[in-house]
Amino acid sequence: MSTDDGPEGLTLVGSTEQSTRTDIAGDVRVGLTSMPKWLPCIYFYDDAGSELFEQICELPEYYPTRTERSILETHADALVAHVQHRVDLVELGSGSATKTRLVVEALLRRHGELRFIPVDISRSILEESSRSLVEDYDRLEVHAVAGEYHDGLDYLKQQGAPPRLILWLGSNVGNFQRPDATHFLQRLHSTMRAEDRLLIGIDLRKEATVLEAAYDDAAGVTAAFNKNLLTRLNADLSADFDLDRFVHQSRWNAAEGRVEMHLVSQGRQSVCIKGIDLTVEFEDGESIHTENAYKYSAEEIESLATSAHFEAECQWLDEAQRFSVNLWKPRS
Ligand code: AVI
Repeated sequence: MSTDDGPEGLTLVGSTEQSTRTDIAGDVRVGLTSMPKWLPCIYFYDDAGSELFEQICELPEYYPTRTERSILETHADALVAHVQHRVDLVELGSGSATKTRLVVEALLRRHGELRFIPVDISRSILEESSRSLVEDYDRLEVHAVAGEYHDGLDYLKQQGAPPRLILWLGSNVGNFQRPDATHFLQRLHSTMRAEDRLLIGIDLRKEATVLEAAYDDAAGVTAAFNKNLLTRLNADLSADFDLDRFVHQSRWNAAEGRVEMHLVSQGRQSVCIKGIDLTVEFEDGESIHTENAYKYSAEEIESLATSAHFEAECQWLDEAQRFSVNLWKPRS
């Protein structure tokens, strides 16, 4: 871990490595020797992948970001008014923190000054967004933590007063298997005190056509994001994936309530991953399952809150009821 003092009002702590607790070699061996083959979506987010994700967020087909933003634009003052205490604002997976600005501004309007603690795996994006925040808001202090969600939880555990408003936006919860989402939220709950609040953005179940298009846009940015995983394995593990021989697919799995992303092999082929001394054989049409994005119904959101020991305080939806922003308080 390192501490950098940036411009006035900004400190940055955390690993200078991209990823602190992951084991890419072990994970790739397990995933690509399984049937069906899979890879963990956490490896999407090297610097190139994080940039591509920022582009996805602006795509016409990818409705979650702009819908969540519109909910925050409409309700930021109301949601801040629900949080009675003066709080530190914490964000897990802050990325470019664009939507966060709406909450930052509402808290600054209410309290005059604010400490913001963004946690993100991409140090470069974290540094850039933190710098621009301290430049743009005089009364804002930013204490940035470069690391994974675990690092964020560790950090939260160590912190004393004041109370915190924790943001987990963007339906990042959707990339967890349902039981893992509960487990992670239980761990988050264990770091929280009675006055703390969680503001969690959760994407809702909807028509398959809308969902599949959101994960397979016409401009091909999501395809590039998915294939960047193979570029990363080529670079980090000396693999020889031919990107032209894999095709990106998004599939709505109604039974599981999730959009799946796949990379589908075009023809039979073998891929050598020198760095882990592994050769992987692919049949024509065989896929690597690279991501799940779970979507929730109102009942599923309620049961997620209950099973993770939270109580729903308030929920805001957009007019078309595509996305939800939920304010939860810990049950003791
Ligand atoms: C980060 N996460 C919430 C995105 C999602 O919608 O599941 C990742 C993503 N994958 C493809 N498009 C966006």
